[in-house]
Amino acid sequence: MNSAEFTPLTARKSGPVQGRTRVPGDKSISHRVLILGALTVGETVIAGLLEGEDVLHTADAMRALGARVERIGDHAWRVHGVGVGGFAQPARALDFGNSGTGARLAIGAVAGAPVTVTFDGDDSLRSRPMRRVLDPLEKMGARVVQIADDGRLPLILQGAADPIPIIYESPVASAQLKSAVLLAGLAAPGETTVIESEATRDHTERLLKHFGAKLTSKPHGEHGRRIVLQGQPELEPANILVPADPSSAAFPLVAALIAPGSELILEAVMTNSLRNGLLMTLLEMGASIEALEKRDDGGEEVADLRVRTSALKGVEVPPERAPSMIDEYPILAVAASFAEGVTRMRGLKELRVKESDRLAATAEMLRANGVAVEIEGDDLIVHGKGRPFGAGEVKTHMDHRIAMAALVMGLGAENPVRIDDSAFIATSFPGFVELMRSVGADLT
Ligand code: S3P
Repeated sequence: MNSAEFTPLTARKSGPVQGRTRVPGDKSISHRVLILGALTVGETVIAGLLEGEDVLHTADAMRALGARVERIGDHAWRVHGVGVGGFAQPARALDFGNSGTGARLAIGAVAGAPVTVTFDGDDSLRSRPMRRVLDPLEKMGARVVQIADDGRLPLILQGAADPIPIIYESPVASAQLKSAVLLAGLAAPGETTVIESEATRDHTERLLKHFGAKLTSKPHGEHGRRIVLQGQPELEPANILVPADPSSAAFPLVAALIAPGSELILEAVMTNSLRNGLLMTLLEMGASIEALEKRDDGGEEVADLRVRTSALKGVEVPPERAPSMIDEYPILAVAASFAEGVTRMRGLKELRVKESDRLAATAEMLRANGVAVEIEGDDLIVHGKGRPFGAGEVKTHMDHRIAMAALVMGLGAENPVRIDDSAFIATSFPGFVELMRSVGADLT
């Protein structure tokens, strides 16, 4: 995507947000099924894949590494994999666009194969830290041949011909980091262990088991997990249904909470307990959200969420909740600005290394719309006054979640909110504008 072509968009105060809708498939699971499908010998069929730009970059990367990846229908894909350690030498650099998840997971998978691969991405991805995944992968035998200043992309990685299993205590609560080590560990003999002091999303673990790998995950300390993967499994092809992405559902959900007279049903949203920090927090704030028809869809719990306009109050969000809602702070900050009272979100250090410095970008978005906000250390403090003034011009900084959060703010604020660029929304939520309009949002 060319960052020089800006596509502004304006959101205006809207009537009720209502009806039934289903947001696209989960981004985390979509990346992972493509990569695991590529590491399996045989055919994996995927339904409900997120066809956002981030995931399409991962699909292209798996093709370049020798897998056959085909679109066979709407959100339906087929992957013929090459097996663990079976990647082919790609003829070109792999471009992951805006996607930290795609890049870091693929770096892990490549680290366990005897190929030398160039990884690259757009300006936002080129500014994000890669050392965190490379450090453990080097211990496993991968070699960084070349890397840009400060451990950033572009980088050239030589995968290990004979990867070594490690016991890795993760210094950051990052599912990407955990997943990179586990994916490299697939090709290593014996047990690869990842210890996390804060449990992060467990989709890699669930999917590895679904594909037939032997893996155990046990509690570790107060909030952590110890994950042990038995290396060199014969992964078996598996069919997968990708549930609706809770991180995408968050935007129409908060729109329904703040637009007067709303009642919205969001269908089949994944409610995995390691992803539901936003729901928990909004319920504490007084939101009317009911989980209906709870069921299991492809190994993940899902429910239809019924959301009604609600009077919200400020709350304190504890730091240990951050991993279960790490992508939801921009939209939570919007909800907090419609609440009465102070919301303090604690322990947001990791937000500084997302698609933008999301801590700064979120504060800037709120300030531009007349909301009083402070950053104290790693905490974000929002002073809610019921309904923001709006009228802000929001810089999105190549960050899809800042773009969508700002537009949701505009649906409830007194005055329109304009974003400088809506193009990056397609990285995670293609069809966002159409879906939001279909439930009553005024976006032009
Ligand atoms: C993701 C993990 C999180 C999250 C990202 C998706 C994943 O990143 O922010 O959008 O799919 O593993 P970190 O692992 O860096 O926290």
